[in-house]
Amino acid sequence: MAGFPQVRLRRLRSSEAMRRMVSETSVSVDDFIYPLFLAHGRDVKEPIPPMPGIFQLSLDMLLPEIDEITALGIPAVLLFGLPSSKDALGSEAYDEHGIIQEGIRVIKQAAPDLMVITDVCLCEYTDHGHCGVLFEDGRVDNDATLELLARTAVSHVEAGADMVAPSAMMDGQIAALRRALDSSGYSDTPIMAYAAKYSSAFYGPFRIAAGSSPQQGDRKAYQMDPGSTRQAMREMELDHEEGADILMVKPALAYLDVLSRARQRFDVPLAAYNVSGEYSMVKAAAQAGWLDERQVVIETMTSLKRAGADLIITYHAKDAAAWLNE
Ligand code: PBG
Repeated sequence: MAGFPQVRLRRLRSSEAMRRMVSETSVSVDDFIYPLFLAHGRDVKEPIPPMPGIFQLSLDMLLPEIDEITALGIPAVLLFGLPSSKDALGSEAYDEHGIIQEGIRVIKQAAPDLMVITDVCLCEYTDHGHCGVLFEDGRVDNDATLELLARTAVSHVEAGADMVAPSAMMDGQIAALRRALDSSGYSDTPIMAYAAKYSSAFYGPFRIAAGSSPQQGDRKAYQMDPGSTRQAMREMELDHEEGADILMVKPALAYLDVLSRARQRFDVPLAAYNVSGEYSMVKAAAQAGWLDERQVVIETMTSLKRAGADLIITYHAKDAAAWLNE
């Protein structure tokens, strides 16, 4: 094998044109999914302090936001809701007039071609803040939760959602949703599974944004241990077998090995969720003048694509789209 001095790898880095020609990974606006937080009321545009640039929005404030998203060419949004009241069963999650169901109608009316994906979970809707319903002793009742998640998903699709994304990390949730959607006449609606979802401190800012912190305990009995990858493969394998159309790894940056392993193993589209804490870190450092936000964001998106993501759920989507469109 020839080596230096015959081989000089810097030849392929010699000019901008050369670098573009041999570039291996590209990021496109087509890859982005932008999360939105929907709130009841009127004239609500409530800043989320740890997530500069991200707001809780009431439905009457959505139109300019939707116009901006579609003008940038972002193909999809992912909806989260803040209910008017919470209870033990998270009943607004599957109420046909819940915040998400009403929000879907508003968005689909304004922008029929914008893909509307919904997060299917109970934690924003339960008074105890867990992702499912509880047994008397406080543990999450997996099988009873499945029924409510399925009802939630069907109600989203009835309201016009294009895809559902279950995030509760209950066993059997993909099969339960697939069965319910199929028997309600929605066999064409895809499921994006939060398949390998870790119990992560990087969700902190989201829980402030969505008011969804558990009142007691943590989510470790359903979300995954950060030290595991074999378990992540089993989670993804099962979700795949249960009929997930897209598999997600979440969070993204601290779990690139999981993404990369999933890429080699599954021939389905993979999504990476660049979560709230990852966004907050970049924003805070950029505001302090400690790093170049634009370059860091594009580098981050590139790393997610390189590791194997096809889709990227990110709060940076609008900024990154604007930069990529320049
Ligand atoms: C709902 C859900 C969470 C996130 C997405 N869906 C919070 C959690 O599991 O605690 C986190 C997203 C983010 O941090 O950006 N279960």
